[in-house]
Amino acid sequence: MTKIISGKELAKNLRARIKIEATTLREKNIEPTLAVVLVGDNKASRSYVNSKHKACIENNINSIKIELEENISTDELLVEIEKLNNDNKIHGILVQLPLPKSIDEEKILNAVSPKKDVDGFHPINVGKLVIGEAKLIPCTPLGILEMIKSTGEKIEGKLALVIGRSNIVGKPISTLLLQNNATVITAHSKTKNLDKLIEQADIIVSCVGYAHFLSGKERVKDTCTIIDVGNNYKEGKLVGDVDTEKFIGRVSFISPVPGGVGPLTITMLMRNTLTATYELTK
Ligand code: GUN
Repeated sequence: MTKIISGKELAKNLRARIKIEATTLREKNIEPTLAVVLVGDNKASRSYVNSKHKACIENNINSIKIELEENISTDELLVEIEKLNNDNKIHGILVQLPLPKSIDEEKILNAVSPKKDVDGFHPINVGKLVIGEAKLIPCTPLGILEMIKSTGEKIEGKLALVIGRSNIVGKPISTLLLQNNATVITAHSKTKNLDKLIEQADIIVSCVGYAHFLSGKERVKDTCTIIDVGNNYKEGKLVGDVDTEKFIGRVSFISPVPGGVGPLTITMLMRNTLTATYELTK
């Protein structure tokens, strides 16, 4: 039998805990606060930012939206970031990506104080993640790990196959699985014999960004856990990297899209905002 891992349900439980912690902080006169910077008028980005804002407010975390013109320069944006870095009332800073092409994205991400970097994108936090000392870890990988842990199956000693090697998902989730004592293979577009790797994997995380990349033709272990991190559109419908239906009855656990990792990413952003608040106010 295949169990569906509900990100929605998991997010609901984690958010309840976050709300209690945020309320406790407020009782101590600490108002956990996230600043989200949105540059320009990308519709998808605006929608993501609004979802993050709404989730924060619902869970007693203060959220400030900073909306800036598309034609702002890198230097002007750096000034805005510096203001947020120096503002004691702000605990978390998130610069919504992608930034307009005219802006030096690397310079901006490097300018966010590592202590307030709730995305975990700053090179200092990336480095800390690799040596197992990170406090702020990218949100989607944190959410994926929660999903895998929610199965109750041990990660230690398992063969984990991560398909995709982006800085935001593939690389950090590979690192987190390694820290949990899995044997990790990170596959990518140049990987040979992917089907053979899929066949052996105990855990598969797909973050390729290609609709139904795992089509169901692949052989899989019947004890396998599949986490689908795809966020693709096919015929106007949101679909994952995995054609889920084709794996039902063939694996132990699978996460759906929508309702899988998505709700957990925002949950982990709030978790990171609390982590940053604790660190900055201790
Ligand atoms: N754009 C799409 N996903 C993300 C994310 O996780 N963080 C930021 N800052 N921008 C994004």
